[in-house]
Parts: sequence; structure tokens; C-alpha cells
Amino acid sequence: MDNAATTYPKPESVYADVDYFNRYLGGNPGRGSNKATLKAGSILFDTREALARLFNIDDSARIAFTSNVTEALNTALKGILKSGDHVITTSMEHNAVARPLYTLEHKGIEWTKVQCASDGSLDPEDIRQAIKPNTRVICILHASNLVGTIMPIAEVGKIARENGIFFIVDTAQTAGVLALDVVEQNIDILTFTGHKGLLGLQGTGGLFVRPGIELISLKEGGTGSLSEYLEHPILMPDHLESGTQNTPGIVGLHAGIKFIEETGRENIHKHEQELTEMLISGLKEMPGVIVYGPNDTQNRTAVVAFNIDDADCGQVSMALDYEYGIITRSGLHCAPLAHATIGTMERGACRLSPGYFTTKDDIKKVLEAVYNISHEY
Ligand code: ALA
Repeated sequence: MDNAATTYPKPESVYADVDYFNRYLGGNPGRGSNKATLKAGSILFDTREALARLFNIDDSARIAFTSNVTEALNTALKGILKSGDHVITTSMEHNAVARPLYTLEHKGIEWTKVQCASDGSLDPEDIRQAIKPNTRVICILHASNLVGTIMPIAEVGKIARENGIFFIVDTAQTAGVLALDVVEQNIDILTFTGHKGLLGLQGTGGLFVRPGIELISLKEGGTGSLSEYLEHPILMPDHLESGTQNTPGIVGLHAGIKFIEETGRENIHKHEQELTEMLISGLKEMPGVIVYGPNDTQNRTAVVAFNIDDADCGQVSMALDYEYGIITRSGLHCAPLAHATIGTMERGACRLSPGYFTTKDDIKKVLEAVYNISHEY
């Protein structure tokens, strides 16, 4: 029940393909022209193509791999914003956005956090109202990692495009589950992680950068291309991909995306919605249990934060783990801004997040466990 932190288990094909690559292929992509390196290069290419299909990206060379979505967001924000620029986010952002912007604020960037409602929801008109002459970037998450609230990214993308502002989206909690379309949603930079909804391994992620946008790279180094020049290549994806890539991880990511294509993203989403519906209605029937976030499962991902009366959320999480074998995440979830927005900054919350491989029977057991624990406090 901690799939919002990392999905578990992975599809069997992810384990099998990674093992096969490590045992029998093992090349370093783009380094030389031996068969192993060419095979590894073609795996990277196929994975970019699979991501391009998922996000409706024309040119897959505009997708660069990173070690996680945090690195992708740092690359996007620090690569585009300069002193004197203004950036708009919501009050629900994860520290992957908030911490880079806190640092950039001390380097002369102005930052407006548009206030969301206590269920995490955002009125896109509030974003429009926050625009100033120097607004260069709007950066928002697609769904909250704390309460699952889905943000109106298509509406915000339209506002950004109408005003000539770069639109960056953090899809950490949605890629592979919710529909993403960089053209329809006017997304200039889409950042993703590989180990959550995309069902790949930890240590993978990346970003799509719309043609015409040149980011200042956070790092320079070997790219396997244009090696005769000391100047770092501006060619994408090499510009953002110095050093040896996490090829085994990318193999797993490729297998994860293939699994999503075969299963159908909509089927994954539907199953997760049914589980979320069961969780929320079950928890809401329990006296003393407080459930946070939107009431309507249409407007949220499979993430449910709750507290029991005055009980410490860490103790509840420990009881679920040690007494029932149910893994959850408690505390502040690297999202203090979001906790302040929903009113749980002081006490934190316990978070349940089922995944595609969670069953309805699992949810029944979780509800029974929470019910029992709620009677112990
Ligand atoms: N950001 C991840 C979470 O919400 C790790 O747990």
C-alpha cells in the first residue's frame, strides 16, 4: 500500500528483461561501435519511442533520461529560470519543486505559490491572476503525492500558452496511469519518474523538452558524440545526458511501458479508481477516522491520506506494518507545502496508495486493520 512511493511488485517482464540485459547483453550505449553498445543504444532508442507514444511526443530525441524526476525538475527549473524571472506554482508542490525554487529565490527569482483549497484542488483562474509581466514559468504537479488531487493541467497549459509562459509539469504520480498529451495539454517540459506508474525501476526518470527550448545543462561530460570538441554538445538528448546512463534501469522502464501498453492505461486507471473508491468509502464509515482530499474519486489518483483521532500517524503506520504486514508511508511525504494546505503540517498523516497489482481482497484486509487499530486508540 505504498505505491505512491514506488510501485511494488513490478510486472514479471521487468524482472526478466533486466536480468537478461545484465547477464547476456550489458553494453554501454553510444560508447564505440561494438555489437553490445549498439544493442544498448537501440534499447535506449526504443524506450524513448515508447515514452513518446505514451505522451504524444513527435520527436523522441527531445526526451532525456535522468536518475529520477527530482533531477529532471532541477534540470528544467535551473536550466530555464534566470535572475529577475517570476515562477508560479501551486501550494501543493513536492519538495522536488519547492526546494530548487527556494534555492533559486535566493538567487533573484520571484516565486508565487497559488493557494489551493483544503482538499488540494486548484482553480486555474487563480493561476491566471498570479501572472506578472516577468512570469517566465508555470510549474505544477499533475496530481498530489499526499492526497491524490488531480490538477487541471489542460486549463493551466492553455493559460500558459496564451500568455507566452513556459509550462512545466511534474508527472511523478500520474505517468502511466492518467492521460498525458504534450500537444493537447500545451506542456513545454514534461518531467517523469520511471519507478512509479511507469512500473520500471528506481533510479530512472527523465524529461521531454519541447523543440525550440534550450536548457542550460546542470552537467557536462562524455556523451559518446562530438568527442573531438571540448564544448558540450547542444544536440538533444546528449545535451542533458552526460555520463553512462542507467541502462539496466532503462531496460526495466521499457518493459514497464510495454506492460502498460499491453494492459491498457485506462484499465490500470479504472482498477486503481475502484480500489480508491473502496478505501475511501470504507474509511469514511469508521468513527474517528479523518480522510483528507477530494470526495470524488474522479478527481484523485490512488492516494488516500488519513489520521485516526489524535493518534500519532507514525505509530499507526508502524502498527499496520508490524501487526498486519501492510506497508504505508507516514509523516510529511516530502511535501510540507501540501500538508500546510490540507491542515496537517503539525501532525502529518498516514498514506495508503494501492497499485495495479493490489486486489479488492487486499483493500478489505487494510480496512479491517485500520478499523482494529482505530479501536486501540
Ligand atoms: N515522492 C514519493 C512519495 O510521495 C517518494 O512517497
